[in-house]
Amino acid sequence: MSHVHKHKILTIADAIAQGEGSATVRGWAWRERESKELKFIVLRDSTEVIQCVVKKEKVPAVLWEQAHLVQVETSLVITGTLHKDPRAPTGVELVVEHLETIGASDTFPITKDQSVEFLADKRHLWLRSRKMTAILKIRSTVFGAIHEYFRTKKFHEYQSPIFQSVQCEGGSTLFEVPYFGQKGVFLAQTWQLYAEPAIFALERIYTIAPSFRAEKSKTSRHLTEYWHAEMEAAWASFDDIIDHGEGVLKHVVSRVLAEHMADLKILERDPEKLRPALEKPFPRMSYTEALEILKTKCGMEVEWGKDLRTIEEDELSKLYDTPICVTRYPKKVKAFYMKEDPFDEKVVLGVDFIAPEGYGEIIGGSEREPDLKEIEKRLKEQGEDPAHYEFYLDTRRYGSVPHGGFGMGVERVVAWVCGLESIKDAIPFPRTMLRWTP
Ligand code: 4AD
Ligand code: MG
Repeated sequence: MSHVHKHKILTIADAIAQGEGSATVRGWAWRERESKELKFIVLRDSTEVIQCVVKKEKVPAVLWEQAHLVQVETSLVITGTLHKDPRAPTGVELVVEHLETIGASDTFPITKDQSVEFLADKRHLWLRSRKMTAILKIRSTVFGAIHEYFRTKKFHEYQSPIFQSVQCEGGSTLFEVPYFGQKGVFLAQTWQLYAEPAIFALERIYTIAPSFRAEKSKTSRHLTEYWHAEMEAAWASFDDIIDHGEGVLKHVVSRVLAEHMADLKILERDPEKLRPALEKPFPRMSYTEALEILKTKCGMEVEWGKDLRTIEEDELSKLYDTPICVTRYPKKVKAFYMKEDPFDEKVVLGVDFIAPEGYGEIIGGSEREPDLKEIEKRLKEQGEDPAHYEFYLDTRRYGSVPHGGFGMGVERVVAWVCGLESIKDAIPFPRTMLRWTP
């Protein structure tokens, strides 16, 4: 029987917690160095790293020879004796008594100080880095927290098609796909137009699914393929929608703070930067009020009616330590489906959540326009043929109810929570205008 089956295998985190006695661990050589007498292998698994030491004088010659062959990323099963050692990277060292190589490793191409482009080319290998591992763990928790929030609030998970026959968020960022020679087939920008019909059956629904935007911008915030957490609810008021946005973000932050202190440390992310979002209510202000604040506190003059640009959002967000909710934008700058404010026909009941520290718009949502004629009018103004939207317009013909929802860019939230420089590190294989490989 092979060594692998003889011993109970501990995760490296559990071995460190045990701290003494014998243990078997498995993983990949994260670092290795060798002197005449000693071979150090820092072994990593998905949980932690541990320093393993092979002492030439104390082990059979074959074991020393095997250890000598260990390169970075060799996969191994190691048995030995644990002891506390403050000099070891995680405070515990494993003195090796048995070592089995599972998979040898060629010279690993990723070494210190590589360029961003090189790491992007080697993304499939870079995923193994401590940084990416920490981010991907947090990302998993973020997804889980979103599911948890909506399920606890009695939302049904619901799926919309990815191949769609209409646009929803503007034609300029649509990906048209070849579809058996047909025209007018696009990748989803949002689930929204296919979600609204379902609230008449399920009332409260949510999803987390990929959305696609042909973004011609090379900013640190835009992906062409991103994961979109969306909700839609019948009978919801505008305030209910904003409350859910705030609620789900607070739940995400609370889960990350509860479960990922060690990962935040690896990312050098100060958890105190996130705590206000958990503990304080998010300031809510209208677009018009936001312009006033920009003028008086940031010295930035924005003409009423113009959309907020990134630089204005950034300056505004710097004044707060939680996300802020900007509401009631001019009708002209927002999508055709947003409900006109009953008290001011120039604005719509739409909301953008802007993250602190310049992470930009993390949620966009609205109450939906109930009036059929108004929707048709706005579609035409945008150069759309309402005939293509007949299925959607039916939602306003058969027992329409007040409703609304939002979409959250999950990678933007992950980037904010993790304090990342670019949204590209918030997803395993980022797709942008300039990158679709590997
Ligand atoms: O504001 P958006 O365009 O809103 C909608 O799509 C609505 N139909 C959602 C709804 O009401 N169901 O997109 C929603 C969010 C943005 O706030 C942003 O966080 C994210 O999606 N997002 C992107 N994230 C990464 N890369 C991109 N190119 C993104 N475009 C939007
Ligand atoms: Mg938006």
